[in-house]
Amino acid sequence: MKKLLVVYYSQTGQLTRIVHSVLKPIADSGQVEVVIEELQPQEPYPFPWSAIAFADAFPESFQQRPCRLKPFRFDPNAHYDAVLLAYQVWYLSPSIPVTAFLTSAEAARVMRNRPVTTLIGCRNMWLQAHEKVKEHIVTLGGRPAGNIVLMDRAPNLLGVISIAAWMLTGRKERYLKIFPKPGIADEDIETADRFGEILVPAIDSGDWSSVQSELNRRGAVRVVPAYILFEQRISKIFNIWAKFIDSKGGPGDPARRTRLRAFIAYLLAAVFLIAPVATVVTSVLQRLKRKKINQMVSYFAENRYRGKT
Ligand SMILES: Cc1cc2nc3c(=O)[nH]c(=O)nc-3n(C[C@H](O)[C@H](O)[C@H](O)COP(=O)(O)O)c2cc1C
Repeated sequence: MKKLLVVYYSQTGQLTRIVHSVLKPIADSGQVEVVIEELQPQEPYPFPWSAIAFADAFPESFQQRPCRLKPFRFDPNAHYDAVLLAYQVWYLSPSIPVTAFLTSAEAARVMRNRPVTTLIGCRNMWLQAHEKVKEHIVTLGGRPAGNIVLMDRAPNLLGVISIAAWMLTGRKERYLKIFPKPGIADEDIETADRFGEILVPAIDSGDWSSVQSELNRRGAVRVVPAYILFEQRISKIFNIWAKFIDSKGGPGDPARRTRLRAFIAYLLAAVFLIAPVATVVTSVLQRLKRKKINQMVSYFAENRYRGKT
């Protein structure tokens, strides 16, 4: 019997549902023992979020500063044949609890020389976060072996309003009855078991060579070309904002409130002004630099890791 360690965090329960959907065929196979670890921050993040608390998570999330987690329940000294890490994106980075796991000694123990499959549940921008996660996995001696991404279906501008209403009110419903339902579609969550079916033989045989292409054939990864450049640009600007806010104090420090408010204004501008422009610019660039952009799309879809550029 093979053994799979599954590690995840979920604030609203969305990623929990995705994890269980993917795990169903694995658990039902009778070939794999599944050990599940749900990460729990010592101090839970608020839900619903206030606007300030939402912004206050930014500097630590983006700079990948871990929070304190409750002690793990899994045995880090046990032998696991593979690891499944499910994470959500916070500010183009893995969420803070996931960063806390990735920077722990226990993660190093379980990932070393092991295939690590990643399962992302986010709104729509995961490329930069995934570069960071792959870097952690490789640094810990693990092998990125399969990536699955579930995203909201809504177009960017409508989706951002829907998700903001969900995060700030705690209600997962159509905002004002006109915006799309926030979050990942129920149908996409329920049909994610097809990805688990692909993982069973790989966990069993230890042969992961064709897993990503099989996953991709079944729609596991969709790379939106416009977000490649947009995320790169926003990351550079986020870097400046994170340092600027951070220099006023740590999480929850009232001294950084004014800067957090300015950051919220910037976020709104980035979403409503910069993102549409980036979409247009990318579609022009796509014609001019078709080869380069196609190469980048393939790079992200194939789940390779080229190191820091
Ligand atoms: C503070 C915060 C920042 C977020 N930033 C991003 C982001 O940069 N890109 C993205 O696609 N989704 C982002 N999201 C959405 C999450 O990835 C995720 O879809 C949502 O929080 C639900 O996940 P859950 O399973 O933890 O409830 C963010 C959510 C939060 C709370």
